[in-house]
Amino acid sequence: MTNRGHPSRFPADAFRRQDESPDEEFYRSPRFVTHIDDRAIAAVTQLYREYFPADGAVLDLMSSWISHLPPKIEYHRVIGLGMNEEELKGNPRLDSHTVQDLNQNAALPFADNEFDGCGICVSVDYLTRPVEVLREVGRVLKVGAPVVITFSNRCFVDKAIAAWRQLDDEGHMRLVEEYLRRAGNWNDIHSLDRSPRRMFSDPLYAVVGRSMGS
Ligand SMILES: C[S@@+](CC[C@H](N)C(=O)[O-])C[C@H]1O[C@@H](n2cnc3c(N)ncnc32)[C@H](O)[C@@H]1O
Repeated sequence: MTNRGHPSRFPADAFRRQDESPDEEFYRSPRFVTHIDDRAIAAVTQLYREYFPADGAVLDLMSSWISHLPPKIEYHRVIGLGMNEEELKGNPRLDSHTVQDLNQNAALPFADNEFDGCGICVSVDYLTRPVEVLREVGRVLKVGAPVVITFSNRCFVDKAIAAWRQLDDEGHMRLVEEYLRRAGNWNDIHSLDRSPRRMFSDPLYAVVGRSMGS
């Protein structure tokens, strides 16, 4: 039997956060900053170049003012979902955007099979219902379309879930792979270490999976 999306099978306190105040408060003010350095961002952009078809529709989940998509590629449509209206409005790559707290409402406001790729950059550690959210991502992606989940080794500690805080980089990859397995509608799940081979750069890891549909 598959464990189709039962986050309760994780330890009870795995998704607790030090700051349990509403995310809406934490993200009320815009942050026009980058959360990883330029080389790590370049690694994210390269992954998007490799995985997202140039004429496709792309979902930037947990988006902000910057999507890290390859500048020279014109996607058919890029849709962002995040927490801060000002950041999303200021994101030049987005054709449209939605503000939604995924920890309150994990249901994505999109139709089945709408997208050809989804990126979640340096944000998966803030999800308290990641299995539900990723099952939804699988639903809105076309069958075979990729999700590219990237992360580095830093975060807003107060808003990261307990399990994330307790694990190292390797553990983060295993955890995100497990999210996708438990969501039940992903295959070809694998992790990549795309850390820039330079001293003092931020490391960059990715977990990738391909949707099996809803
Ligand atoms: C560290 S920032 C990363 C932003 C962007 N993806 C990037 O690469 O720069 C974390 C992002 O996660 C989003 N986020 C955090 N909690 C969220 C929630 N509960 N629901 C939806 N988005 C959330 C915020 O809007 C914020 O843009």
